[in-house]
Parts: sequence; C-alpha cells; structure tokens
Amino acid sequence: MVKKRACVFISGKGTNLENLIKNSRNYNFPINIKLVITNNSKAEGLKIAKKNSIAFKIIDIKKRSFENEIIKNLKIYDISLICLAGYMQIISKKFLNRYGKDIINIHPSLLPKYKGLNTFSRVIKNRDKKTGCSVHHVNDKLDGGKIIIQKSFEVNFDDKENDLKIKTQKLEYLAFPEAIIELYRYN
Ligand code: GRF
Repeated sequence: MVKKRACVFISGKGTNLENLIKNSRNYNFPINIKLVITNNSKAEGLKIAKKNSIAFKIIDIKKRSFENEIIKNLKIYDISLICLAGYMQIISKKFLNRYGKDIINIHPSLLPKYKGLNTFSRVIKNRDKKTGCSVHHVNDKLDGGKIIIQKSFEVNFDDKENDLKIKTQKLEYLAFPEAIIELYRYN
C-alpha cells in the first residue's frame, strides 16, 4: 500500500498528533505524517514532532503572506491530506480553493451541535444527556463540512467541563484514526 503523505496542523498540546503518529506506524494505516504546521511557536505539540523526527514549520499568521508560506510547504512535502488537530485558526475559502485537496478536522462535540469554542460548557448548560466528538471534512463554513465519523458517550449528572474533556479526548483518539481509514477505504 502506498501511504498518503499527510500534514497535521496544531496550535496546542498535540495529543491527537501523537496518537496519529502512533497509528501511522502501523503498516496498514493509510497515511504517514510528513509535516506539522503550527501558528503557535510555543505549541507543546512541537516537542512531539521533534521527538518523532517529523519536519515542522511555525507560521507567523500576522504576515500577509502566511497562506503562501503554508501552500509552499505543502507542495515541498507533497502533502495530499491535511488533518486539523486543535488548530485554532480558521481556514479561509481562498486557502481551501488553492490547496484543493482534502482537509479534515476533529471537533469536540456531536456536530451540528456546538460549532466553535466552549463545547463542554454548553453541553453542561443545556443538560445534554449525550456528547462526543466528530471528524469532518473542512469547508468554508465553521465546523460545517460533511461528517466522516462520530463517537459519543453518556454525560453523568455530576460531570464537570474537565470530565467531559477527558472523556471526549479518549474518544477522539479512536475517532480520528478510524475516520482516516474510512477516508481511504476504497483507494
Ligand atoms: C482536541 O480536543 C480537539 O477536539 C480540539 O482541540 C483539541 C486538541 O487537543 N479541536 P490536542 O492538541 O490534540 O491535545
């Protein structure tokens, strides 16, 4: 199997990045991670990239040309899948059109519920019985692309935001790799 060359975009801890790297070591997993891109020079996830000898680029999004810089690197590394894993920056319509290949994102809610930030506090406020995570294609609507996979769990009456975060992330580590396998099931 010829593995696709993927780039993971991060802004923070990078636990999903680490999990994807682990999965990619499996012979049958459809991608290899060749590049990590971040908008945050202090992102902890950069240590994970370094530890695993994966190339990384820190992009200064205050520069007008920052999207050119990203596109240039995606070309250099011949990337055909972008995985957004805690990347706290909106992907512009222009970028989507210029890149023209698949971008997927992991989101900590059962979309279409709770797009955007602060998903866990909204689950608690609305006393939802269920929550979880979604992996979806990225389009020009915030957290609005087609869903590839979702995983859910039952919310306990005394769950706090941090409990929901821990339980959601545990499911994310299953959902993201499964979504990638699903993506390439037929090719
Ligand atoms: C994840 O929980 C994901 O749902 C959200 O950002 C978080 C990133 O965590 N989009 P990490 O950087 O992978 O640890």
